[in-house]
Amino acid sequence: MIVNKITDLIGNTPLFEIKMKNNDWKVFLKLEKFNPGGSMKDRMALNMIEQAEKDGRLKPNGTIIESSSGNTAIGLAIASAIKGYKFIAVVDHHASKEKIDMIKAYGGKIVTVGDGYKADEVAVVERERTAKKMANEIENAFFPNQADNFDNRSAYTDTLAKELVNELGNIDLFYAAIGTGGSSCGTALGLKKYNQNTLINVIEPVGSILFGGKGQPYFQSGTGNPIDAPIPKIIDYSIIDNNFYARDDEAFNTCRYLAKRFGLLVGGSAGGVIYKALEDINKKNGSGKAVILLCDGGEKYLNNVFNDEWMKKNNLINKNIVKQLEKWI
Ligand SMILES: Cc1ncc(COP(=O)(O)O)c(C=O)c1O
Repeated sequence: MIVNKITDLIGNTPLFEIKMKNNDWKVFLKLEKFNPGGSMKDRMALNMIEQAEKDGRLKPNGTIIESSSGNTAIGLAIASAIKGYKFIAVVDHHASKEKIDMIKAYGGKIVTVGDGYKADEVAVVERERTAKKMANEIENAFFPNQADNFDNRSAYTDTLAKELVNELGNIDLFYAAIGTGGSSCGTALGLKKYNQNTLINVIEPVGSILFGGKGQPYFQSGTGNPIDAPIPKIIDYSIIDNNFYARDDEAFNTCRYLAKRFGLLVGGSAGGVIYKALEDINKKNGSGKAVILLCDGGEKYLNNVFNDEWMKKNNLINKNIVKQLEKWI
């Protein structure tokens, strides 16, 4: 394949098939780490920019400012670099060092908020407030506001859902992490257009409040909605059939296991989605096709999820997770 724009490499990511031990379900992992910025968020970042260009919200030489846990910012930084925009990412201390270093490498600037928060707390509200304020103050600025921006959601309906249907045809079960809801609901809208009966399952961290859970701090980055953060406007609850909660130890021990078993390095939210999806699929009889959407790769979490000292310090090593996984796959 020959391209002359890095954004032409967004999408068409591969599927990795894993076998269940106790039934004949076919399970496919959609590996979004193979996008240029290492996550599915490249898709929505480009779409939010291009739609804003079309309707004049974003003008030549403009400055894009977004609140992000890192992946959206990486996607925006890449698109900004090649389109000639300035880019500022508003992050909190929760964004991993690897993600921040990538944003800087693409020429983005970093503003960090949330001083005084505990290590496992996220400062989404403060991030969004700061990004909005800066966008009002800086001339020719654009705040995509991913949580309420429908161009985030439609990016996946137009690309990811189509890729899945083209490759697999009928899909019975779909599993995805949920933060803004752009990827889960956007893909779900596309899948349901093809087959109304595809069951849509979303996974948030224990401690996230999207389905009425009691909020508490969690380490899974980018996914869920922490205490006090407003519910993103683009979540379409009417197309979600089931919701599940992943604990940090379930998520992270799954990531560590997959690396050693399959040579597959996936990010923290992906580990949680895989664990809860396999638990659910294992209970099913017969056969069918399940797709598990994996947001990003483990390369961005080498200093926490894949760091033994960090895992031990936070009491997250749990050998029982591996024993469970070995019963399922
Ligand atoms: C690692 C990771 N997982 C899951 C999500 C949630 O995706 P969405 O915002 O599309 O719901 C994000 C979003 O930033 C993320 O960065």
